Amino acid sequence: MALRSNDSNITLTLDAIPKVLTSTRADKINLKRILSNIIQNSIEAISGSGNIHVVVKKSKDKVKIEIADDGCGIEREVLKKVFEKGFTKGKSNGSGLGLAYAKKMIEFWNGKIHVISKPGKGTKILITLPVEKSEAKFICDVEALTSKSRFIAMLDDSELWLKRGEAFDKGSQKLIAFSDPDALIGWADTQAKVGGIDDISFVIDFDLKSHLNGVEVIDRLGIRKQSVLLTESYSDAKVVSLCGARGVPIAPKSLAFSRLDGF
Ligand SMILES: Nc1ncnc2c1ncn2[C@@H]1O[C@H](COP(=O)(O)OP(=O)(O)O)[C@@H](O)[C@H]1O
Ligand SMILES: [Mg+2]
Repeated sequence: MALRSNDSNITLTLDAIPKVLTSTRADKINLKRILSNIIQNSIEAISGSGNIHVVVKKSKDKVKIEIADDGCGIEREVLKKVFEKGFTKGKSNGSGLGLAYAKKMIEFWNGKIHVISKPGKGTKILITLPVEKSEAKFICDVEALTSKSRFIAMLDDSELWLKRGEAFDKGSQKLIAFSDPDALIGWADTQAKVGGIDDISFVIDFDLKSHLNGVEVIDRLGIRKQSVLLTESYSDAKVVSLCGARGVPIAPKSLAFSRLDGF
């Protein structure tokens, strides 16, 4: 996390259960952005020395994140406005977008965010995110699922599977194959600028021998609704839970190509 402080007398403590957030709908990139802004707000609220304490805990059906600081606190009148887009107070370079964005995303993930604050004492931000049922949907017929789109973009680190993916190409519906996630992301970003990416289906492998896995690529591009994870790791609990939380269907590789194998 990149945080700025002109004062080094701030102690940040973290008390978190590893990986617990993957059971929620939140994606890593947006959550990181939200939390780093909230912690940055705490840093900016502390003059001289102070403490920031971040706790992540899980109950049966919820994950709770608390970020507490002993900084300047927020006046009652100001507290009402902190989630308004563009509202900023007490800083020269504030954009007023941080908490508004946090609220929008957290509510999109079916969660809630609250602020408790006392002027002169400090501020606590409480975030709750529901644990999603991790029942991933399994499919065999990738062609049926992708039949309405103009392009099928396939991402797989194996040339063999990309070659097999050519069976998806129907002429009118073009297959575009990528072995490198960054190349796919670059291409999709360009498409987003020209006609949009709504009419593209993404068929993505999980294990890509890259700094990103398939689910991270899906999160990065915001393409949950139009993606299918085509993988051999379909019985891996982590893969199933990541896809279940996102509503991304999983297609076992061997079954998706069963037509080619003569079944
Ligand atoms: N931990 C905090 N302590 C004191 N004030 C805060 C804290 N977090 C947020 N605020 C107040 O809420 C306002 C809105 O925050 P935010 O949406 O992140 O915008 P920005 O940081 O760009 O001003 C801040 O300008 C500040 O006045
Ligand atoms: Mg901020």
